[in-house]
Amino acid sequence: MTPYSLSPTFAEEADRQDPLAKYRDKFFFPEKNGKPVIYFCGNSLGLQGKDVPEAMQTELNSWRDYAIGGFQQGANPWLYYQEYLAPSMAKVVGALPHEVTVMNTLTVNLHLMLLSFYRPTDSRKLILMEKGAFPSDQYALETLVKHYGLNPDEVIVEIAPAPGNFCITTDQITHIIQQLGDQLAMVMLGGIQYYTGQLFEIHTITKAAHEVGAIAAFDLAHAVGNVPLHLHDWNVDFAVWCTYKYLNGGPGAVGGAYVHEKYAQDTEFPRLAGWWGNDEKTRFRMEKGFIPKPTAGGWNISTAQVLNMCCLRSSLTIFDEVAIPAIREKSILLTGYLEFLLNSIPSLPCNIITPSDPQQRGAQLSLYFKENGRAIFDRLIQQGIVVDYREPGVIRVAPSPLYCRYQDVYDFYTIVTQTD
Ligand SMILES: Cc1ncc(COP(=O)(O)O)c(C=O)c1O
Repeated sequence: MTPYSLSPTFAEEADRQDPLAKYRDKFFFPEKNGKPVIYFCGNSLGLQGKDVPEAMQTELNSWRDYAIGGFQQGANPWLYYQEYLAPSMAKVVGALPHEVTVMNTLTVNLHLMLLSFYRPTDSRKLILMEKGAFPSDQYALETLVKHYGLNPDEVIVEIAPAPGNFCITTDQITHIIQQLGDQLAMVMLGGIQYYTGQLFEIHTITKAAHEVGAIAAFDLAHAVGNVPLHLHDWNVDFAVWCTYKYLNGGPGAVGGAYVHEKYAQDTEFPRLAGWWGNDEKTRFRMEKGFIPKPTAGGWNISTAQVLNMCCLRSSLTIFDEVAIPAIREKSILLTGYLEFLLNSIPSLPCNIITPSDPQQRGAQLSLYFKENGRAIFDRLIQQGIVVDYREPGVIRVAPSPLYCRYQDVYDFYTIVTQTD
């Protein structure tokens, strides 16, 4: 039995009963036509939290008042900045605090981790990734493989949905992993596929990769802050993510990285180094010989980007307070409501290509328009509904549960059904 109804009072009542409703007021909303927009684009860039300006001002004040002394003094001595974020970040991805760090940006972190974890040999060098992965991931793997003097067409195996489908099944993935067997060096997938919104079964895929002796790695850009993750318990080898989507870290926000403790604590594990990854006790001796911190922080290279990290730090206080299970509970209901309303439209001009099973998706639904997708997208934007468009033909609609309401979903539905 569906918990939803087409009646407009359903949305009002659901908002009234929503335990997360108060968090909406913690965010700034852009305006269109004199009203706050309906913001369904948290899968691209999350909204600015109202506490962010003060968090940024605090660090500006430390810079103003202490200058270089800010590394040791002030509200949050900058020397330890990454450590302020790691415990909250670790909770969000289901890792131990020493398995997580924030640094650089997603693709840079992907490169760094690939250089540590991908060590091709003559017999084991294949990398499995999804066909149509986010372009930056494709470019990272293509150029990495070329860097080793290998041919991407021979080394990168792309897995595609079966003909007529948009999504890849877990069985397809585990089957190809078994087929590639001891030639497979690494499985590298998006946790949630950016175009279709499909949530991969990270645990099962990791297990299958390990059974053939391959590394299991994930780009969690669309999964982090969106769905429950248990990277440590799932035994994932490494993962990277950005923090500007569901985590609301701000444009170009610092990226995140997870390295399972069996590698993080191994100071002999190969990596590209810089002084910020050096053990703090000896960092300022300026001596020869890199001694990595025995944590994911051992992959830090450069001085902490404090003015960037402070926005994420501020945003993570909300995740400390609410925690992922509560966010997920609302998210399943909210996205399910969106799907219910769309499916009630008699001649819906698009296909919902995201899996209908809530366990196989996060907040986002991807609507595939054979035609007119761009024009419909433009109309939504004109009417104050912020979604995004990805070629070919997909409008991505992501009601982020921290600041979106059931009413927003209903208003979206009424605009989509307008015949003008
Ligand atoms: C799935 C995915 N991977 C990688 C990236 C690239 O991230 P960055 O520009 O932070 O390196 C994005 C950006 O949106 C993304 O969605």
